[in-house]
Amino acid sequence: MQTTLTALVAKAQADLAALKSRPEFEAAKARLVGPNGELTALMKQMGAVPKEERPAMGKLINETKGRLQLLLDNALRQIEAGELQAQLGPALDPTLPSPDAGPGTYHPLTLVREEMCRILRKVGFTVADGPEVETEFYCFDALNTPADHPARDAQDTFYFPETARFGNVSKRTPNEKYLLRTHTSSVQIRTMLKGPPPIRIVSPGRVYRRDTTDASHSANFHQLECLYVDRNVTVRDLKALLDYIFESLLGAGTKTRFRPHYFGYTEPSFEVDLSAKHLPKVNKEWIEIGGCGMVDPSVFETVGYDSTVWTGYAFGMGLERLAMTLYGIDDIRYFYQNDLRFLKQFA
Ligand code: DAH
Repeated sequence: MQTTLTALVAKAQADLAALKSRPEFEAAKARLVGPNGELTALMKQMGAVPKEERPAMGKLINETKGRLQLLLDNALRQIEAGELQAQLGPALDPTLPSPDAGPGTYHPLTLVREEMCRILRKVGFTVADGPEVETEFYCFDALNTPADHPARDAQDTFYFPETARFGNVSKRTPNEKYLLRTHTSSVQIRTMLKGPPPIRIVSPGRVYRRDTTDASHSANFHQLECLYVDRNVTVRDLKALLDYIFESLLGAGTKTRFRPHYFGYTEPSFEVDLSAKHLPKVNKEWIEIGGCGMVDPSVFETVGYDSTVWTGYAFGMGLERLAMTLYGIDDIRYFYQNDLRFLKQFA
């Protein structure tokens, strides 16, 4: 009997070590210790054992049962660990660099912005920057945009609560409100207040409007602003600059045209349309690209320039619009979704 029990334990040890799954485990458990299992069968033979040997034999069987139980517990633990491992997948070292972190590429908006700045630098423009949080003075008042202008409506502009404080943007009057700039034209004022003409700046940056997002609107988008102040600046200079910029960007044969418009900070004011060779394929022949005009004398007076001496032009346009035109992109939302399938096309 003793040898049979020892053999049973040895066999159980070998069998259990080879188990791979729960069903296999359950079958092995039933075979060893189940009601019809091998140990139970041996226990049933107790009746045939002489009475005086029974206590020793009982002890031996109990010990065997304990040993088998231990082996079963270990086997189950091993199977559970295997299941967990399968769920977690292969072990990884979080300190290793990401395997697909290839070199980054420029965002299409960055490409267009940099190209425009490069083109403008060639003709003497320098890049100027301004804050995205603005005060009403820089965004509207100094640009001759009165308090009842629709652009100043709370439906169109993101205002901050009166309690908001921005240490790096100072208010001119205490009851002025802070807001997210609705256009980059505010940088015109900041630049002119810094020093006397001549001035020749380009200022790209983020702007914000209370727009509901769709294929052609986004509450946050980008503009590029130009300001040129000198003596004897005329509309011809403005038109020549726009022709030069867009021909450099889109190739020979690119044309611009002006349509009369109204902006508080320019007089006369125009909307600018653009026509390029490849445009009819992706769009209409003429597309509207921005606004421009000759700086209004009242703006010069506000910043302390003598409007009988100084003249200038200003121009602003949307960078998304330009990038969409340039690359044939039909939905503005692609720019902000960080989808590599989109971004990699500009690598
Ligand atoms: N700020 C205008 C806008 O956001 C664009 C614009 C129009 C800019 C005329 C200018 C300008 O500098 O002179 O729609």
